[in-house]
Amino acid sequence: MRDGDVVLDVGCHPGGWAQVAVEEVGEAGIVIGVDLQPCQPVDGALLMVGDITDPLTQERIVKELEDRQVNSVSPTYLHILPENGTLTKPLR
Ligand SMILES: C[S@@+](CC[C@H](N)C(=O)[O-])C[C@H]1O[C@@H](n2cnc3c(N)ncnc32)[C@H](O)[C@@H]1O
Repeated sequence: MRDGDVVLDVGCHPGGWAQVAVEEVGEAGIVIGVDLQPCQPVDGALLMVGDITDPLTQERIVKELEDRQVNSVSPTYLHILPENGTLTKPLR
């Protein structure tokens, strides 16, 4: 993770990793987290409840990105990101 990165934290509960990500990416970056269960709020991060495999959740994430591209993903759930490129295309 670097200054200005757009981070997708899949499986973000309880929120500790998102907190670290916010500090790493700074004000130019974006941190979006998603988990099946709610997290404690983290200043500077958008943490949503949802299933990353659900197309509706993916749509919500894409909307929040506002034309920016995800360039860093938490590694735990990299393997369950959609194969259709909705979220991962910019990473490959
Ligand atoms: C091992 S924990 C993640 C560790 C956490 N990122 C940390 O701070 O170290 C796994 C989390 O992934 C979430 N999870 C599992 N499948 C998921 C899915 N399909 N979509 C979103 N979150 C999911 C679970 O609810 C759980 O909170």
